[in-house]
Amino acid sequence: MTSHQPGYDRTARLLHWSSALCFLIALGIGLYFGTLDYRNNKADYAKFGEVIYWHKTFGTLVFALVFYRLYHRFRHPPPALPASMPGWMRSASHLSHWSLYGLIVVLGLSGLVGSDIGNYPVKLFELWYLPQFAGENRPLADSILRVHIWLGNTAAILVAIHIGASLYHHWIVKDDVLRRMWAGPGR
Ligand code: HEM
Ligand code: HEM
Repeated sequence: MTSHQPGYDRTARLLHWSSALCFLIALGIGLYFGTLDYRNNKADYAKFGEVIYWHKTFGTLVFALVFYRLYHRFRHPPPALPASMPGWMRSASHLSHWSLYGLIVVLGLSGLVGSDIGNYPVKLFELWYLPQFAGENRPLADSILRVHIWLGNTAAILVAIHIGASLYHHWIVKDDVLRRMWAGPGR
């Protein structure tokens, strides 16, 4: 695909929507257990235990997909933004997209490394445990996971802005920004 085609190609769209879904599930679960007092309260810890592996599973999926996504993006650059879009909006769009990519990488890494070092197992799909690589260091793990929690909450804000911006383009500006990610070049 050249940068002048009107929409994202099929692979880019499939990757965007599948990782968006996994991201929103991981985020939703994270925000849910963030409301629990699972460090101090036994009943809350049990509720946390029921969902944490699904948080880790969907988070790991988004993390794994992002590398293929970036590789695909490098080989097939995204279509140019509508010519009518003002400069500041183009800059904001690029900044928010790269921040989202960056957050996916750092959230995945901090979640996986924090779990590994803390000896908090990572079980995928309630089936497979990832091997543990590092020796246990709970204080370091908990510091890494504190950063992870902070980044997770930042991601919630950024994703809300991202979704709001695409709906704003679709319903208020009435341009093709959402359609070209939804329907692609052959719409
Ligand atoms: C899309 C990626 C991810 C997002 C958006 C995300 C988001 C979040 C959020 C918002 C929290 C905060 C919950 C709270 O307030 O207590 C959290 C906690 C946590 N996440 Fe993630 N996460 C992601 C990926 C991962 C991955 C890949 C892992 C590990 C395999 C992981 C492991 C954890 C753990 C262990 C906690 C609890 C930390 C603690 O209480 O010390 N996350 N995550
Ligand atoms: C209902 C939810 C969502 C909607 C409606 C949506 C909409 C869009 C649209 C329309 C674009 C194309 C923007 C353009 O052409 O410049 C886009 C790109 C993007 N979206 Fe989403 N999105 C959603 C969820 C998410 C989530 C949860 C993430 C993950 C963090 C995400 C990450 C990205 C990234 C990184 C790009 C840039 C793609 C690229 O050009 O490489 N999106 N999104």
